Amino acid sequence: MRKSIFDLLERKGTLPVSMLTAYDYNTARNIDEAGIDMVLVGDSLGNVMLGYENTLAVTVEDMIHHGKAVCRGVKKAMVVIDMPFMSYQASVEDAVRNAGRIMKETGCQAVKLEGGAEYANRIRAIVAAGIPVVGHIGLMPQSVNAMGGYRVQGKSLEQARKLLDDAKAVEEAGAFAITLECVPEALAKFVTERTKALTIGIGAGRYCDGQVLVYQDMLGFSDGFTPKFVKKYADVHNVMVEAFRQYKQDCEQRSFPGEGQTFEIADEVMKELTAEKLPF
Ligand code: KIV
Repeated sequence: MRKSIFDLLERKGTLPVSMLTAYDYNTARNIDEAGIDMVLVGDSLGNVMLGYENTLAVTVEDMIHHGKAVCRGVKKAMVVIDMPFMSYQASVEDAVRNAGRIMKETGCQAVKLEGGAEYANRIRAIVAAGIPVVGHIGLMPQSVNAMGGYRVQGKSLEQARKLLDDAKAVEEAGAFAITLECVPEALAKFVTERTKALTIGIGAGRYCDGQVLVYQDMLGFSDGFTPKFVKKYADVHNVMVEAFRQYKQDCEQRSFPGEGQTFEIADEVMKELTAEKLPF
C-alpha cells in the first residue's frame, strides 16, 4: 500500500515529509527503495527530461506517459502528478476532466496545480471529484512570463499578504498540501504555523512540513546553474561523463568487451561451419 493523505497529514508539526521528483521507472524505484514519502512527477520534466527552456510546452499526454512509468516503479510512496500549463487554467470543467484523466490513466494518488485564490474553484471541484490536490504557490514556473522571471516571491508586504491569502484559499478549497516555492523562510514558517495543510517547501527554508527537490538538481546531474536552495548530494555529472569517457576509450582500445562479457560457442560447431561452403 502506498502512503495516503492521512499518513502524511498525521506528520504535520512532527516528522518532516520528504518528496523528490521522478519521471521514469528506474529512478522511481530507487527513490521508493530509499523510503522517500512522496514522489512528484513534476512538469519540470519539460526542462530536465525534454530539454525545453521552461515548463509551458508540457502536455497532459507527457504527464501521463511519464506518470505511468513512475507509478509502475513506486510501491510505498505517494505519487503526485503535476497538471501542466493550460490543462486547468481555462475552466473548471477542463480542470476536473484532466485531473481525472491523469489519475485514471496513471494510477497516481494526487495531482498538483499551480495558483492561489484565482484557482480555488478548480481545486474545490477536483477535490469534490475524489481526487486529492496539492496546491503550489509562491514562484509558479507556469507563470514565468507573467512573473517576469524566476525570482523569490512574497518579499514585500503586499506580496506577503497575497501569499497568505493564496495559502488560505487553497487550503479552504480542500488541498491537503501546499508547495511553497522560493518564498522567504520567515514567511513560509508563518504560513506553515497557520495552515492545516502540509507545507512542502522548495527554496522556502527550514520550517515547512516537508521538502521537495528535483532529483537531477540534488544529484548534481548538470554542471550548469544550480539554484541557491539546492543541496547537492552527489556529483552525478562527473560520474557519468567520466564513465562515458572510459567506455569510449575501452571501445577504441578493444578492452571492452572483456572475456567476462562474451558468449561461447563449441569449437566443433565453428570447425564444421568453417568447412562448409558459406554464402560469404
Ligand atoms: O515541476 C516540479 O518539479 C515542481 C517542483 C519544483 C515542486 O513543481
